[in-house]
Amino acid sequence: MILLRLLAFGLIMVTPVVAQAQKIVAHRGASFDAPENTLASFRLAWEQNADAIEGDFFLTKDQQIVCIHDSKTKRTSGVEQVVSESTLEELRKLDVGSWKDPRFKGEKIPTLAEVLAIIPTGKRIYIEIKCGPEIVPFLGRAIKQSGLAPEQTIVISFNDKVIAATREQIPEIKAYWLAGFRQNAQTKVLEPTGQELLATALKVHAHGIDIQAQREMVNADFVTLLRKNRLEFHVWTVNSPDDARHFQQLGVDSITTDRPAFLRSELQLK
Ligand code: G3P
Ligand code: CA
Repeated sequence: MILLRLLAFGLIMVTPVVAQAQKIVAHRGASFDAPENTLASFRLAWEQNADAIEGDFFLTKDQQIVCIHDSKTKRTSGVEQVVSESTLEELRKLDVGSWKDPRFKGEKIPTLAEVLAIIPTGKRIYIEIKCGPEIVPFLGRAIKQSGLAPEQTIVISFNDKVIAATREQIPEIKAYWLAGFRQNAQTKVLEPTGQELLATALKVHAHGIDIQAQREMVNADFVTLLRKNRLEFHVWTVNSPDDARHFQQLGVDSITTDRPAFLRSELQLK
């Protein structure tokens, strides 16, 4: 009996900490293989067994919510239009698939409603808001009309005002504040600090921080700070398995990647 207990104790002592099951989030859909922010890219993400998709959203001139990363359409369509100064009908004429590969010719800029309509049961979406808080009332309506469960839709934004407005106006869903790092031109130090990031996240009542995958800054101390304050910890955008393993060891809640199937297999996630 004593021997058994000693053996069990020994096993517990030597067993490495097994990382929790991280969620894999498909960045702009499965955007390594398909044109970003299109239904083709989101469908492929589901085929690649992503736990969630991430997409970028703007409000159009006629107050429709559309899925596109840039504030102008040139990079993905070849035609220059300002999203916020265009109507949905005008934007729908653009082909945002061909730039990636001719086989995606004819892919249109989707609406938020179309993207929400293809989310499978139990899967999620990170809705990144690229404009300001004026979109939030429309967002609340679209989410309600989708019939999805509250835990299936999460709002993310670099704009802390968008997170604050989401928490106030759509309290039933989660909101993560997005943050990145920049080098101070004089001191060469990366900013902001963990404490500064924490202060903003708490100020806007975010459920968590979705942070740029910067290994120097996103370390055990930073994660301890978040966890002590009961904040979730998510990272973007990770395509290297080595980097992903670093964040996995830190117990990250979700990893956003352009390559969901590849990363899931590299990390040996089920
Ligand atoms: O998931 C967050 C990430 O998408 C932010 O960067 O420029 O790809 O929208 P960006
Ligand atoms: Ca994004």
